[in-house]
Amino acid sequence: MVRSHESDDFQKLLSIMEELHQLKDLDALLDAVLLEARQLTAAEAGSIYLVENGMLNFSYLHNDRLFSSARTKHIYTSNTLPLDNRSIAGYVACTGEPLLIDDVYKMPESGPFTFNSSYDRASGYRTKSLLVLPLKTSRNKIVGVMEIINALDREGESIPFTERDMMIAGYFANNAAAAVERAQLTREVILRMIRMCELHDPEETGTHANRVGAYAAEIYHQWALDRGVPEPEINKTQDLIRIAAMLHDLGKIAIPDLILKKPGRLEHNEYAIMKYHTIYGARLFENRSSDLDIMCAEIALNHHERWDGGGYPGKIRDIFADSVHFGPGKQGEEIPLAARIVTLADVYDALVSKRIYKESLPEAEALVVIREQAGKQFDPEVVAAFFAIHELIVAIRGKYREDSPTPTEGRAGP
Ligand SMILES: [Fe+2]
Ligand SMILES: [Fe+2]
Repeated sequence: MVRSHESDDFQKLLSIMEELHQLKDLDALLDAVLLEARQLTAAEAGSIYLVENGMLNFSYLHNDRLFSSARTKHIYTSNTLPLDNRSIAGYVACTGEPLLIDDVYKMPESGPFTFNSSYDRASGYRTKSLLVLPLKTSRNKIVGVMEIINALDREGESIPFTERDMMIAGYFANNAAAAVERAQLTREVILRMIRMCELHDPEETGTHANRVGAYAAEIYHQWALDRGVPEPEINKTQDLIRIAAMLHDLGKIAIPDLILKKPGRLEHNEYAIMKYHTIYGARLFENRSSDLDIMCAEIALNHHERWDGGGYPGKIRDIFADSVHFGPGKQGEEIPLAARIVTLADVYDALVSKRIYKESLPEAEALVVIREQAGKQFDPEVVAAFFAIHELIVAIRGKYREDSPTPTEGRAGP
């Protein structure tokens, strides 16, 4: 990364902030915040911890030396730190003050915190200079901590961060904190909506929604990279698809409990009612006042269509009509791309998850099913993108396990 010139730093900051505020999804935002902070300070690596449920939750990671892109399984590692001053990030979260450390291996031993070198030992990386900033909103709420690691000189050697780096990145972090808080709120509202749905349908859990959202965002990213889609467009669509994919089954809220909670297979007439969750879901976003609403409606309506035309609800003239009759199935690219991606993400997750009527399938067997359904149930190009990022898919499963507390979802009481 090349250090930016002083004169245009603040001008640049303003336009960066404007762009950040366009992002709705938390992960997309953290990626952008970290990238911009590193560019402002010419830093090689960085990570972000978010304050969640009284802990510091490791939430994002970049490292140009170890991996060239942020799209690595490492961003899906789950790791938490206690919110106390024994760790560097914990200290900054507790005090709300930034820290500038020239060499983490030469810190005085008298300090309250120590550097945890386990990551360096495991990866072979050498952390040296650190700039650690609280993500503090204007109401002095600490939403997280950003660690910017190893400022580089022109020869790529690690050098200390400067007071100026601290001032500029600190100003940026304070502004970014508001955007992070807003994105956390958005995700919380979504997870709350899904929890309402979960009261009816035990399959639609917050973790299932988080997994489907993350799978869909990553599959889309790969699909778009393969086709040379420009980066700004990839980022924008990925931001929307993550949220819209999480809401794919929201229409189930209108399906009777007797059907959703029935153990065992559904009768023909019950299944016919169940299929209407696609229509009900699409109706929830009827205003279509934003790109996000449009994508939510597309995914809700089309995530049970099949590439070969054998899915439902098919072509329908008016989803708001008093009585809606299902039409002939949409086929191939008649089905919006986002829905084709969510179909695969949702089915994969159902295959490898335990449900009330079935056991989970081992990963290898699920992959056989998916490969076999390419060109039948699934778009073959979406299947290819899925296999290209299989390592990421497995990491996402690990992060959002059924027994793990859902990040940003503070479950209250039993
Ligand atoms: Fe569904
Ligand atoms: Fe689902």
